[in-house]
Amino acid sequence: MDTRILSAQAQGAIDEAVRCLGAGGLVAVPTETVYGLAGDAMNGQAVARIFEAKGRPSFNPLIAHVCDLDMARQIAALDAVALALAERFWPGPLTLVLPLAASARVHPLVTAGLSTVAVRMPKGPASEIIRRLGRPLAAPSANRSGRVSPTTADHVNRSLGGRIELILDAGPCAFGLESTIVKPEGGELLLLRPGAVTVEEIEDAIGLPLRTASGSGIQAPGQMASHYAPAGQVRLEARHVEAGEHLVAFGSGRVEGEEKAASRIDLSPDGDLREAAANLFAALARLDAPDVERIAVMPIPRHGLGLAINDRLARAAAPR
Ligand code: TXA
Ligand code: MG
Repeated sequence: MDTRILSAQAQGAIDEAVRCLGAGGLVAVPTETVYGLAGDAMNGQAVARIFEAKGRPSFNPLIAHVCDLDMARQIAALDAVALALAERFWPGPLTLVLPLAASARVHPLVTAGLSTVAVRMPKGPASEIIRRLGRPLAAPSANRSGRVSPTTADHVNRSLGGRIELILDAGPCAFGLESTIVKPEGGELLLLRPGAVTVEEIEDAIGLPLRTASGSGIQAPGQMASHYAPAGQVRLEARHVEAGEHLVAFGSGRVEGEEKAASRIDLSPDGDLREAAANLFAALARLDAPDVERIAVMPIPRHGLGLAINDRLARAAAPR
């Protein structure tokens, strides 16, 4: 794939970014913190492509970027503390982890299937793009997994050139450091990731001390063993189906006894890992029902996104 690089100020550059994102493409967009690898947060295949382009070994939850408070409210529930923080710091480098709104249409891959969503209102061209698209953008930092976060278009190009459609160049980022992530919880405010907004600024704004999560750095709830686990038992690498098992299928191959399956969900009939990734959390959610006691999952290749899919399935199947 050819990656185009356009100056964010160039005539038609924002239009091009909006068109590309609307078609499910990936665009590296400058924000005041770092360049983000953006995709339509409501399009599962676009979100799956973000993980693939980054080479992320697992589906960490992503931040949903919004352009105004209305859009934030469409996806998340903001209590008084959250509203005060939003008023004081948005647009700006503060991310709030909030309860997902009941009617939110953010794809479950963005939240890694959690009931909370990380929301941020960025500054700069990203904001204009979100407003014109009319949907939130999912955007982790625009670098390959394990590399430093990119603060120039050139960094992005070196890391992701050839893997994404477009890079918007607005020069070096103002902060060059990711947003601070906080989570209101039980009347307290929890610091999940230190970042561009200081602890002092936040404590000043809310008149409360921040609580630091035990251990330092990012708390990634997506890494915890039982988060993806449906109520029933999950059997992986299934090459046959036993009576009463619910089948999660991948690809066009057949497994012995599939006519005995109580139900069947196809992650991707064509064996497309991107499609399977986009469908995975929805499939697990559908099977998380009291009448589903046993689930058999066909083998899924471990290359590309298959590694992350298998990682999540292993957590779903882990003894608990
Ligand atoms: O400055 C930034 O925040 C940049 C720019 C592009 O906006 N984005 C960024 O995204 O740093 P990322 O994916 O590298 O880091 C987001 C982190 C994830 O690692 C995850 O741990 C946390 O946010 N996160 C996302 N959703 C969460 C949730 N529901 N609960 C707890 N943590 C969450
Ligand atoms: Mg990052």
